[in-house]
Amino acid sequence: MGWKGILGFEYGIVQAPLGPDISGPELVAAVANAGGLGFLRAPDWESPDYLRGLIRKTRNLTDKPFGVGVVLAFPHEENLRVILDEKVAVLQVYWGKCSKELVLEAHLAGVKVVPQVGSAEEAREAINAGVDAIIVQGREAGGHVIGQEGLISLLPRVVDLVGDHDIPVIAAGGIVDARGYVAALALGAHGVCLGTRFMATEESYAHPLYKRKLVELDKTEYTDVFGRARWPNAPQRALVTPFFSEWKPLPHENEVNQPVIGHSTINGQEKEIHRFAGPVPNATATGDVESMAMYAGQGVGLIKEIIPAGEVVRKLVEGAQLLIRQKFTDTN
Ligand SMILES: Cc1cc2nc3c(=O)[nH]c(=O)nc-3n(C[C@H](O)[C@H](O)[C@H](O)COP(=O)(O)O)c2cc1C
Repeated sequence: MGWKGILGFEYGIVQAPLGPDISGPELVAAVANAGGLGFLRAPDWESPDYLRGLIRKTRNLTDKPFGVGVVLAFPHEENLRVILDEKVAVLQVYWGKCSKELVLEAHLAGVKVVPQVGSAEEAREAINAGVDAIIVQGREAGGHVIGQEGLISLLPRVVDLVGDHDIPVIAAGGIVDARGYVAALALGAHGVCLGTRFMATEESYAHPLYKRKLVELDKTEYTDVFGRARWPNAPQRALVTPFFSEWKPLPHENEVNQPVIGHSTINGQEKEIHRFAGPVPNATATGDVESMAMYAGQGVGLIKEIIPAGEVVRKLVEGAQLLIRQKFTDTN
């Protein structure tokens, strides 16, 4: 049955790395302890000691394996070194070339490599590079969105491309509950990767106001209004907050010359948050938090409460088993 584990993990449930620091040790450990694959997120700058601290803190909270996500568009060589040196179970990479050399180096360290892709072309390159699994991101996804296609059409294409290779395909984008999970399995996925649902959990490092908005609001938009200077040509799916509706139509070049609307400590560094800046508010954010970027996937309207991350994993697994038994099992 497809709903069983992937990459040696108990279940095929993946908690996406959530930048800049929303998927911290508490969230990742909670997911790991529940049998899922949780990803820390490496800082956007070289910060090997800080990252090593995050990995060790997570290990103090769980004895289960977990992963780290790296956005290749940012400086990452020293961070990568720490991930391999610490022999974290899985390295997730996004927004950059997942080369054969990188995969080989990780494998030599005993680390599995899982890129997140947004097109069939990117998936083909990943297969050729020898990756261990592929996350397929549909345009429904929250956060930065690398491709243009919807998950329902892109996912089976990647499944077909993978063919007989032993490479589990993991679906990402708009999946929030067991129905989405079972739908992804029907399309050929072996697992699912959820971002927005895990952000709205007790253990996520998102600001309480951001978590509340994820419960209250249900509309998202594919946009490029946030973080144009720091991460150019990187569209994102954001929650349609009152700030977003009011300010989106107003022209602006980027966030650099915008006023400072608040402050946040991100991965150990004090940051000024300008209006239209990219980082979403973490628990330390102060100031006009309501006006900060709040990313979310199209499934956000299905999120009705903040629950523990372990419960998200349990509900997905038990719900999928029930759904398959009740609706898709031939009893004749
Ligand atoms: C706040 C937020 C931050 C994200 N940060 C990252 C990241 O740093 N690296 C990454 O590969 N994906 C990131 N993603 C995208 C996820 O990997 C995944 O594609 C997406 O969350 C799936 O869609 P969903 O949010 O509807 O579940 C982020 C998503 C959100 C909502």
